[in-house]
Amino acid sequence: MFKLTGKQAIVTGGGSGIGKAISEKLAEAGAVVQVLDTNEIEGKRAADEIKASGNLSYFHACDVSDPLAVQETIDRVAQQSHIHILINNAAIAHVGNIENTTGEDMMKLYQVNVLGVFNCSKAVIPYFKKANGGVIINMASIASTMGLSERFAYTMTKGATLSMTYALAKDYLADGIRCNAISPARIHTPFVDGYLEEHYRENQKEMFETLSKYQPIGRMGKPTEVAALVLFLCSDEASFITGCNYPIDGGCLNLMG
Ligand SMILES: NC(=O)c1ccc[n+]([C@@H]2O[C@H](COP(=O)([O-])OP(=O)(O)OC[C@H]3O[C@@H](n4cnc5c(N)ncnc54)[C@H](O)[C@@H]3O)[C@@H](O)[C@H]2O)c1
Repeated sequence: MFKLTGKQAIVTGGGSGIGKAISEKLAEAGAVVQVLDTNEIEGKRAADEIKASGNLSYFHACDVSDPLAVQETIDRVAQQSHIHILINNAAIAHVGNIENTTGEDMMKLYQVNVLGVFNCSKAVIPYFKKANGGVIINMASIASTMGLSERFAYTMTKGATLSMTYALAKDYLADGIRCNAISPARIHTPFVDGYLEEHYRENQKEMFETLSKYQPIGRMGKPTEVAALVLFLCSDEASFITGCNYPIDGGCLNLMG
């Protein structure tokens, strides 16, 4: 079950955290994985580690907010071999309410998190249409459907990511293209460790506990748990699933309180 033999997948932000785990999981399932990331060291490392484990992966330095770079990268990959799967995972975070969020913050988050999804999806859709099929997974967040404190700009982008998922799924139903979103609560990635280091250097351990207990299940998720859901949604076993949002949140959306 859940084999991706003969498939080619693009994973944006595949150099770290959830994207790295997704790249590894899809490659283990037999896909050739093209890692797109702005972090050349980590992106290349992720692809090299996959190769070292006997699977296939290549790295491309690419900023998803740059439409020309995205088009050029995706055209280059598609010329070598057909693309079957796009994972729109790359995103950046921002902490702040509306008062301490600037217009520049809003534009920066919009450019990476919203236009990144737009640019990559726009570049693959013509190839998917030609082949009469393809899968897009958008990394949304519980912030797409619930209010999180101090995440004003980030929430704006994750709401848009979810709405774009529904719009894409609807527009390309007849072309055999499936598009779904995944909405994680807090997942323990380098981003979380960096956040604690930056904002809570004095009481990192305590804050880690607090952030863990926010999820009713009592812990943060693991990148591999998100990757397993992505693999299922990309596989032929999920061929009846499109236009859906999958929370993977330790009970946040339904079991709070
Ligand atoms: N970690 C969490 O708790 C959590 C929760 C909900 C949703 N998410 C979402 O999951 C996704 C991955 O999060 P993560 O925690 O693994 O993050 P991360 O910071 O560990 O990894 C993100 C990767 O994206 C890359 N990236 C950033 N900007 C880019 C750009 N413009 N072009 C190409 N690559 C770029 C980074 O270099 C990095 O390798 C994001 O969409 C995030 O919003 C994360």
